[in-house]
Amino acid sequence: MTITIKTPAEIEKMRVAGRLAADVLDMISSHVQAGITTLELNDICHRYIVEEQQAIPAPLNYKGYPKSICTSINHVVCHGIPDDRKLKDGDILNIDVTVIKDGYHGDTSRMFTIGKISGVAQLVTRVAKESMELGINMVKPGVKLGDIGYAIQQYAEKHHLSVVREYCGHGIGTEFHEDPQVLHYGRAGTGIALEPGMTFTIEPMVNAGKRHVRLLNDGWTVVTRDRKLSAQWEHTVLVTTTGHEVLTLGVKQ
Ligand code: MF3
Ligand code: CO
Ligand code: CO
Repeated sequence: MTITIKTPAEIEKMRVAGRLAADVLDMISSHVQAGITTLELNDICHRYIVEEQQAIPAPLNYKGYPKSICTSINHVVCHGIPDDRKLKDGDILNIDVTVIKDGYHGDTSRMFTIGKISGVAQLVTRVAKESMELGINMVKPGVKLGDIGYAIQQYAEKHHLSVVREYCGHGIGTEFHEDPQVLHYGRAGTGIALEPGMTFTIEPMVNAGKRHVRLLNDGWTVVTRDRKLSAQWEHTVLVTTTGHEVLTLGVKQ
């Protein structure tokens, strides 16, 4: 396992990439409305990243992934592939954006809600966000990765929700997915200690029902086994000497 410690020059490039990824989510938010398809959202993001930002949408062709963003609706946990399904009232949607700029990656996702959503949809969306924030707020040198996973899991389970185990946060830099793996569950006091200059994502997937997931035949789309709702939020975070810096903060979130 090799965890890269970013130099000040690399950190500056990570800041740029992170800002661009957040800008894409800010840009797309006004388009997320009943009637639009996830493929249309993909195409708007693709053009914006390539033409306005002069950046690269990292998912496109990544291990054969066919589109530029991931769009995960309702019981889809992650890696939903944009298609011709129209958003409709009551849907909850995760849009996950990763851009490459000057060789460095920025990775972030948010939940969007369409029209009037159910109480359970509100709960899972809110607790997913708060569990991510709880994890981020713990980040500082010396804290162990297991402390973060433990805190996220405790928080979700306190609300009678569950945390997906098969997918996790990750180191990020010149590679989309670097070491370490950032689990969203675990035991306090275990795992590696954080050091200044590490960059990684925190991206908990929180389910309304049981934690178990299933991969669809397209090889990408991950759904809850019990078909209950799932929500996810993601930021890219830098460990600083005194704490942390969130590299993917937008203005609308
Ligand atoms: N952005 C996702 C993550 O947070 C990874 C998507 S991989 C893809 O790690 F190929 F589906 F795009
Ligand atoms: Co990620
Ligand atoms: Co992502």
